Amino acid sequence: MTYTDTVRKTFAITTPLYYVNDLPHIGSAYTTMAADAVARFERLRGKAVLMITGTDEHGQKIQRTAESNGLQPQEHCDKIAAGFDALWQKLNIQYDRFSRTTSPRHEAIVKEFFGRVWDKGDIYLGQQKGWYCVSCEEFKEERELLQGHRCSIHPNKEAEWRDEQNYFFALSKYQSQLEALYQERPDFIQPESRRNEVLSFVAQGLQDFSISRVNLDWGFPVPVDPNHTIYVWFDALLGYVTALLDPDSDPSLEKALEKWWPINLHLIGKDILRFHAVYWPAMLMSAGLPVSGHVFGHGFLTKDGQKMGKSLGNTLDPVELVDRYGADAIRYYFLKEIEFGKDGDFSETRFVDIVNADLANDLGNLLNRTLKMVQKYCNALVPNVNGEDIPADHPLKAIGLGLSDRTSVAYEALAFSEACREIFTLVRSCNKFIDEQAPWSLYKQGNSAAVEQVLYAVLESVRLSAYLLSPIIPSISTDIYQQLGFSLNFNEKTLINDSVTYDTHATWGTLPAQQQLGEPRPVFVRLEQA
Ligand code: MSP
Repeated sequence: MTYTDTVRKTFAITTPLYYVNDLPHIGSAYTTMAADAVARFERLRGKAVLMITGTDEHGQKIQRTAESNGLQPQEHCDKIAAGFDALWQKLNIQYDRFSRTTSPRHEAIVKEFFGRVWDKGDIYLGQQKGWYCVSCEEFKEERELLQGHRCSIHPNKEAEWRDEQNYFFALSKYQSQLEALYQERPDFIQPESRRNEVLSFVAQGLQDFSISRVNLDWGFPVPVDPNHTIYVWFDALLGYVTALLDPDSDPSLEKALEKWWPINLHLIGKDILRFHAVYWPAMLMSAGLPVSGHVFGHGFLTKDGQKMGKSLGNTLDPVELVDRYGADAIRYYFLKEIEFGKDGDFSETRFVDIVNADLANDLGNLLNRTLKMVQKYCNALVPNVNGEDIPADHPLKAIGLGLSDRTSVAYEALAFSEACREIFTLVRSCNKFIDEQAPWSLYKQGNSAAVEQVLYAVLESVRLSAYLLSPIIPSISTDIYQQLGFSLNFNEKTLINDSVTYDTHATWGTLPAQQQLGEPRPVFVRLEQA
């Protein structure tokens, strides 16, 4: 199952809007790296892409954190939001919109949306009794909690008993409409295992949920009753809509929904599936708006089997990792090594082994030794061979010809590991091919036509691999491209966003003969274990 929508030329994708209770950890970076890879892939294919990320800044959790740091909430949020942005720069994330839920424009959108749901008659005042996990910002059923009313996602935190008047959203009214949505659009929730989780949750019967809080200042007032504050999740999900506004347009739903709605894909972690796959579509139905395209819930990065998290304090600092190892190595490891959708543990030893084997040895050395031979045997020009004339059963061309199709299928299914596996099959075949063909011997025998054939096929395969890997390792791909004599820079959005370029570059055999090559230098320096 994939997220593809072949009809629309626009593509909007979101990461969650991250809580600003602390600086980002590698778990928050994980979703963003994946979203960036998808956004880059769609841009590469020539779609108009809007990648949305941002921060979720209201609610009790944030208010308490600001207090404990001795800061005004807004001051605290500004500081942490800047920390997220700084990490996205370091990780080379090409987002288009950074949505902050404390922005005045967002308040206008929330107010208008609330008004629509209110007018529909879907909001009423009631009594909320139950256990509230502040770290999840969610009421929990007694049966979901561990001993001592501890939350299973934050076992070091006790849920708090609440008995208060709240406004409720009439979720139960949407039971059958939601069931119909899941039936009619079986790929709305992915992967399949998450879909099943949602189906069985909904089958138990949906309960209305409270969308206001009392005794909490940090949030927007309920428009019809300012003694209440809008619940952080009702507010946060609408941050996706606010993000669609052009920077200079009026903050109205009409303007926001003009170009990019419905959003094609929400990428989230599995802990916030219910909000995105149940509450959010019901809210949209209530407001009379089309539901988003797809929701994909990925797994957790774990440490010693437990979800890494700010609340548990068992996280890895992504800034430190990027400073030590570089953005591409981190992006590659997490996207290649962990099957997207499943949980995955991070081990530094494994990380270093994998990136050294794949990026330094298999890919980097391959380019380097080939370029050196081309310098020596072919005057540092791409050998004078026409890729189209090479027979389709040539061992590298045979793999290269269908590669972009296979890789696209994998990217569309968010199967990043699979995309990497496909591409590295070609890379490894190149290494084997050089060893078998031994161009150095062919050269000694004076068979320069054969030398040229071998080296062209390898350079072309490295080029295609770099192109198809560019959504994951954009800087290494740019470096490879430049050494192959191109000026294409995968970090320049406008330069790569073109379907004609895609059709040429994603095809094996298009490396121009006699193109002047750059100076060979390692594209990835081997890492040492810390
Ligand atoms: N603020 C809400 C989202 C609102 S969206 C309108 C939120 N924020 S969060 O900062 O707590 O989490 C954001 C995302 O990071 C979630 O998708 C969550 O699954 C993901 N991760 C947090 N820790 C994680 C791991 N250890 N591993 C993988 N992803 C994790 O929820």
